[in-house]
Amino acid sequence: MTARGILLTGSSGQVGGELLRTLQPLGAVTAPVRGQVDLADVAGDFRLLRETIRQVRPRWIVNPAAYTAVDKAESEPELAYAVNRDAVRVMGEEAQKIGAVVLHFSTDYVFDGTGAKAYVESDATGPVSVYGASKLAGELALVESGAAHAIFRTSWVYGGTGKNFLLTILRLAREKESLKVVADQYGAPTWSHDLAAMTAAVMQRCETESADSSLEEAMQGFGGLYHAAGAGETTWFGFAAKAVRQVREREPESKLAEIAAIPTSEYPTPARRPENSRLNCDRLEKQFGWRMMDWQESLRRVLSEL
Ligand SMILES: NC(=O)c1ccc[n+]([C@@H]2O[C@H](COP(=O)([O-])OP(=O)(O)OC[C@H]3O[C@@H](n4cnc5c(N)ncnc54)[C@H](OP(=O)(O)O)[C@@H]3O)[C@@H](O)[C@H]2O)c1
Repeated sequence: MTARGILLTGSSGQVGGELLRTLQPLGAVTAPVRGQVDLADVAGDFRLLRETIRQVRPRWIVNPAAYTAVDKAESEPELAYAVNRDAVRVMGEEAQKIGAVVLHFSTDYVFDGTGAKAYVESDATGPVSVYGASKLAGELALVESGAAHAIFRTSWVYGGTGKNFLLTILRLAREKESLKVVADQYGAPTWSHDLAAMTAAVMQRCETESADSSLEEAMQGFGGLYHAAGAGETTWFGFAAKAVRQVREREPESKLAEIAAIPTSEYPTPARRPENSRLNCDRLEKQFGWRMMDWQESLRRVLSEL
């Protein structure tokens, strides 16, 4: 990769933390955290974000940072839109000026979750929550900025560290006698490490393809929207039950809660979630030859490393 490096946001998060490691071999990584560049700085017109991009002059801006508190977003829409839409627009505007490429992450929650078929990239969106709407607005803002970009929509992100469903369930399973988990939302858990590895592979491929042209030109063929979620499908209940069963097998002496399946109607939350979160990832595979890891395989790996 050339001397111009990578600007990475959200490196204290699940995906950003993995990217911080995975992207190192590809070039110099600058990774400002919230205390250095606040991505909600609407009042200050994102001065620090703009200045950082102008100073670093990255070849790539990789943006896994997001306001991800799905339920809290219902009562803090301004904050969700600031980080998930406005900051993304600024990244796009600044990237466009210096010829950088933006790699951005989005979510299955841009869909309304009706039907049972896995969504393809061209399917109609229809978010049912503030979070989903703010993420969709971020996608559109990036496209409108005119910057070369790729957007990876993922789902149910988890890993061995960070705040995620798997670690919460395992903690609760050790604390309680029984747990009730929603069994009528379908989707696929996605390993943060797999997403980061995919991102690095995509970057490498685009760099190779741009050997005879500019990176921006190469992105005309490789850019756009991609679905990137774990292969296979399950429900939150299926995910929790499988995780607890595997831990039980490894630690027969541990006392772990029984997991019971419940409908969403028995677990009301401030934000609505789509029933169908399945994402069809064929485009990613066709374009880059990258197949996302089956969620059961990644779960086995994550549990073996805990
Ligand atoms: N988690 C999921 O289940 C899921 C599902 C589908 C899609 N996604 C998408 O995947 C991407 C990565 O998600 P993740 O799970 O890695 O998220 P995460 O663990 O919640 O991390 C979010 C990151 O964004 C940073 N951030 C938030 N507000 C900020 C602000 N105002 N200024 C600067 N930094 C800020 C956080 O910094 P602090 O540590 O300072 O808060 C953190 O580093 C996001 O685009 C998300 O929308 C996630």
